[in-house]
Amino acid sequence: MQVRGLSVRLGGSYVLEDVSFDIVEGLNLVLGPNGAGKTTLLRTIAGIYKPVKGRVDVRGEVGYMPAEFADAYMPVMDVLLAGGRRSPGRYLAWLKAVGLEGFENRIFSELSTGQKRLVLLAKALAEGELVLLDEPTANLDPAHKALIMGVLQRVKKLKTLVVATHDLDLVNIADNVILLKGGSAIQMRPEELNEKVLSAAYGIPILVVEADGRKLFLPRYDV
Ligand SMILES: Nc1ncnc2c1ncn2[C@@H]1O[C@H](COP(=O)(O)OP(=O)(O)OP(=O)(O)O)[C@@H](O)[C@H]1O
Ligand SMILES: [Mg+2]
Repeated sequence: MQVRGLSVRLGGSYVLEDVSFDIVEGLNLVLGPNGAGKTTLLRTIAGIYKPVKGRVDVRGEVGYMPAEFADAYMPVMDVLLAGGRRSPGRYLAWLKAVGLEGFENRIFSELSTGQKRLVLLAKALAEGELVLLDEPTANLDPAHKALIMGVLQRVKKLKTLVVATHDLDLVNIADNVILLKGGSAIQMRPEELNEKVLSAAYGIPILVVEADGRKLFLPRYDV
């Protein structure tokens, strides 16, 4: 699957300009500063935005978890079934997989922010072979984050994931990185994300430390 020469205009200006990269099997991480166009890219792949130029070649059904969501006063089961693309049993299995077994009759708007995110993650995972996730680990406590990283690690063997995030811990389970900045994209392997590349991308020094068998990313906040 691939994105080629993609240009997207919103509100009269180009948000993405001539963006090209491959979507590989496994976990594709989309990184970049606030306003870089990560959400715009996911929405364009999902077909919500139409590009002015270029193309998105994807296969299979697309599941999409937005970073922001309306606070619907309805049971979780109705949120999952909205759009009617899968059987109730399938949604319930994914609800269990994200640690929310028994939540199907709770009112969605009465859940915590992290719980709502997990419901929408279950929905996206149930609905697509290509799954687009916008900030899936935001608002999660360490235990839920560990659970979700485990789910993503297992699911990436079965489905293709495109994950937009500021959570650099996900670099450790990524197979491909797309770095967005100033409307352009650079594609690289996760191991190429060194201090120089990261610091240039985000505009502050980011140290990369190896510990506990993984990479830890430490931004310097005192600059
Ligand atoms: N509907 C819209 N109309 C006009 N401009 C928009 C619209 N949506 C997004 N933009 C602009 O496009 C740019 C990219 O926004 P986008 O939401 O894609 O960034 P992002 O990388 O997801 O940022 P963040 O990390 O803050 O979520 C921003 O400058 C934003 O102001
Ligand atoms: Mg965004």
